[in-house]
Amino acid sequence: MSKRNILITGGAGFIGSHVVRLFVNKYPTYTIVNLDKLTYAGNLENLRDIEKKPNYLFEKGDILDVEFLFDTFKKYEFDGVIHLAAESHVDRSLHNPNEFAATNIIGTLNLLRVAQTSWHENYQDKLFYHISTDEVYGSAEHGEFFTETTPIDPKSPYSASKASSDHFVSAFNNSYGLPTVISRCSNNYGPYHFPEKLIPLLINNILNNKPLPVYGKGENIRDWLYVEDHARAIDTIFHKGKRGEVYNIGGNNEWKNIDLIHFLCHLMDKKLGKDEGTCAKLITYVKDRAGHDLRYAIDPSKLIGETGWRPEVTFEVGIEKTIDWFLANQEWLRNVTSGAYLQYYSAMYQGR
Ligand code: NAD
Ligand code: TYD
Repeated sequence: MSKRNILITGGAGFIGSHVVRLFVNKYPTYTIVNLDKLTYAGNLENLRDIEKKPNYLFEKGDILDVEFLFDTFKKYEFDGVIHLAAESHVDRSLHNPNEFAATNIIGTLNLLRVAQTSWHENYQDKLFYHISTDEVYGSAEHGEFFTETTPIDPKSPYSASKASSDHFVSAFNNSYGLPTVISRCSNNYGPYHFPEKLIPLLINNILNNKPLPVYGKGENIRDWLYVEDHARAIDTIFHKGKRGEVYNIGGNNEWKNIDLIHFLCHLMDKKLGKDEGTCAKLITYVKDRAGHDLRYAIDPSKLIGETGWRPEVTFEVGIEKTIDWFLANQEWLRNVTSGAYLQYYSAMYQGR
């Protein structure tokens, strides 16, 4: 196996931590550098099990800091970039769209420029891999599935910022020949998921006997993929994806929100030894999210056809694994909801 220096941005976040873990364990000859600003969503606790491995390094920094990016590229002479760092929550983007534009658009543009300049157009064996989302396609009609040629039609400030970053990645491939690949995945779930997103929020609220907020009528549909299946897809695309291409990733696993919530309540009743129907009593319908996309539905056949990747974890198995992980890691949950880990970081890095 060849030696390679790989930069993973956003590796302390939910999906990034699974990608870092997979690469560090699977590729001992690669040096994996995790660059993360450690926002509220980044948590080094997510990587405790691998942080002492000799092929893992952490750099705290901001993708908006171009000088820091140039220095880091110079220090490690990266062969590849897997770019996950982003602001990722739709509800937050409705309150602070500028922050999403800065991190997701300008941050990505900075990384593209630094990679292009640092590689001096010597692109042999180099790759800039951008992790995007199915949300850039907007909302799917019933019966419609997003393919890689579905027109980009983002509807939220989050998806608009991701769509814009995708366009910059394609523009760098087209204009400067930068070897790029983009993947667009459906909704992920699993261990280390931050409890502002639907599934971990439900688990956390049930554990704290708090209402389970259902936006609107609960009729919106999402296509859920276990996070380790996404990490394996990223590994596959990083090694086998064709330069300049886009790959959709999904699990063919559509759930109406309200059906998913009832299923999760049923499982939580069983796990917590409560009477059937107890958790469902917490369900509370609330005001809908502004501009709420009705349905996301991915057609992953290009990726499956070209590489042989396919999801390995069924939803029934994945959701049980997820619940079991959260039940066994309630301290992690208490920690991220109390913000204690953020105070720890600001003391440790002295506000850097
Ligand atoms: P996350 O919010 O859990 O993690 C984002 C990480 O990026 C955090 O560790 C954070 O500290 C870091 N970060 C944020 N701003 C930064 C900056 N300016 N500089 C450096 N680091 C910064 O997100 P996630 O859910 O793990 O998503 C990761 C990527 O995958 C994102 O690009 C997202 O758009 C994409 N994605 C997510 C999903 C999903 O279901 N969560 C689905 C498809 C695609
Ligand atoms: P979320 O996990 O925020 O992911 P995304 O918006 O990126 O798909 O939300 C998943 C779905 O659940 C979405 O349709 C919004 C809905 N939702 C609720 O009904 N209640 C909630 O408290 C949250 C966070 C989401």
